[in-house]
Amino acid sequence: MKALVLIGGLGTRLRPITYAVPKQLIPLAGKAMLYHVLDLLPRDVEEVVLATGHKAELVDRHVRAHPPGLPVTTVAEATPLGTGGGMRNAGGTMSEPFFLLNSDVIAAADLGALAEAHRRSRRLGTMALTEVDDTRPYGVAALGAGDRITAFVEKPPPELAPSHWINAGLAVWSRGVLDRIPPERPVSFEQAVVPGLLGEGVYGFRLSGFWDDAGTRERLLRSQRLLFEAGRGVAVGIPEGARGRGPVSAMEGVRAHDATFGPFVTLGVGVTVGAGAHVENSVVMDGAVIGRRCRLRGTIVGPSVEVEDGRELVDELLGAPPP
Ligand code: GTP
Repeated sequence: MKALVLIGGLGTRLRPITYAVPKQLIPLAGKAMLYHVLDLLPRDVEEVVLATGHKAELVDRHVRAHPPGLPVTTVAEATPLGTGGGMRNAGGTMSEPFFLLNSDVIAAADLGALAEAHRRSRRLGTMALTEVDDTRPYGVAALGAGDRITAFVEKPPPELAPSHWINAGLAVWSRGVLDRIPPERPVSFEQAVVPGLLGEGVYGFRLSGFWDDAGTRERLLRSQRLLFEAGRGVAVGIPEGARGRGPVSAMEGVRAHDATFGPFVTLGVGVTVGAGAHVENSVVMDGAVIGRRCRLRGTIVGPSVEVEDGRELVDELLGAPPP
């Protein structure tokens, strides 16, 4: 099977970080968010097509520098086409059936079992669903016999939500659905296309492991914590000359003498943290400089951002100004 991975969104909820980089390149537990998503794919996937858009050139450069262990190609859209438009634009070479993945979900999910469930009965689509308390930000499924999806409502007010089972952003679809998306214009697959497909056999696949959508600061940091707790962190260890309690992922070239860390921190490539600073439950991206005696908690610091000595940052997104 092949996989189509949507990675072209603007990531507005993570601005200003996403003015500089697509959110999928923000490192969580030691590697870019995108790679945690690709880790979910079975190793025999023949090709991964990344449907890129916003900052496509940075995604290209990153996957060239860090080959993810599966054959990857990218197809960029010149203007944002939405999830459906992006699928139509980039999905020309997809297999029958194919995986469709959002690239901002952090999950423990057996996508091999998802594909198997899809193939066993003749289906048009099989969408992984996860159960959440607050369904407001998500697409919500009504489920009938055999977990057939009988209705799908995008971001309903709580009183109109048909269940607590939401679209987990991981699915298998028959390639015929690509022809049902109008070409060359922005289309939301979930809102404009999926409801019209339900009569042809779309089923839910209930996930039981952890799941989060890393699209906001709070959820991104919660996702990082889940990844660390699940043992999926890389480059884990307190930087030389620093102290603290893990888990902390320190990528190459980190300098942090006499700083303290943890728990749940990623320090990107070449990050400098000054003496006496303390960083916890945070992500500091490549090349950033954290001054002496700073205190960071619940914060994401964008690439190459400099934080002056003595600052206290709690629950902040600190990045470059708008372009
Ligand atoms: P927000 O602006 O913060 O809502 O983030 P987003 O732009 O990423 O939107 P959302 O989280 O709803 O997107 C879900 C998935 O679809 C993510 O993997 C996005 O990268 C992807 N996506 C959203 N819009 C587009 C688009 O126009 N083109 C492509 N190729 N992918 C998209």
